Amino acid sequence: MTTATRGVLGVVASAAGGVQALREGLVEPALARGWRVAVTLTPTAGAWLRRMGEVEPLERLTGLPVRDQPRFPDQPRPHPPVDCYVVAPASANTVAKLASGIADNQALTQVCEALGTPHLPVVVFPQVNAAHARHPAWPHHLDTLRRSHVRLIYGPAIWPLHEPREAPAERELPWGAVLDAAERTA
Ligand SMILES: Cc1cc2nc3c(=O)[nH]c(=O)nc-3n(C[C@H](O)[C@H](O)[C@H](O)COP(=O)(O)O)c2cc1C
Repeated sequence: MTTATRGVLGVVASAAGGVQALREGLVEPALARGWRVAVTLTPTAGAWLRRMGEVEPLERLTGLPVRDQPRFPDQPRPHPPVDCYVVAPASANTVAKLASGIADNQALTQVCEALGTPHLPVVVFPQVNAAHARHPAWPHHLDTLRRSHVRLIYGPAIWPLHEPREAPAERELPWGAVLDAAERTA
């Protein structure tokens, strides 16, 4: 096991394409780069990864529980304080809720609070298609996140938008760009 030297990376993932590769795409490389990693999933992403048998390997690798539910008030916090958040992949739904301050699951609770915490870096990779991006509220959501000090991994150079169901099937998420941004901003 690599000794964590960079601090705690809060990895938050939602139910968007590519989340199935969260372990090898993001968590293993982050550990190798010296982060301690604490994983939190939206409830739907949690159901997807649990069904794939990914939750237990993630917990073994990180040495921390994977959170997809809130704790009870009498339970201790299962994760250490986080030094930098990455939300990857962020579904259109999670981006919209985050920009609106809606904290109706554990993943959003953590990141909404992070947006209001000075000097706590947050990197977001919206995994969206061209239809999501044409929603009339979408530009406003991105503006809100940028103004809230979020580093967005977004744009045609890094994630060309395709029409629904037309993206190349094997397209890998830009995990390296997400981790590079975390290192630059943290
Ligand atoms: C197989 C599958 C793939 C999906 N991929 C995406 C995606 O890439 N981006 C997205 O915004 N929504 C995607 N969705 C829709 C989201 O899963 C859905 O909006 C969900 O409510 C998101 O919940 P969450 O943001 O709480 O994780 C997908 C749904 C399915 C079933």
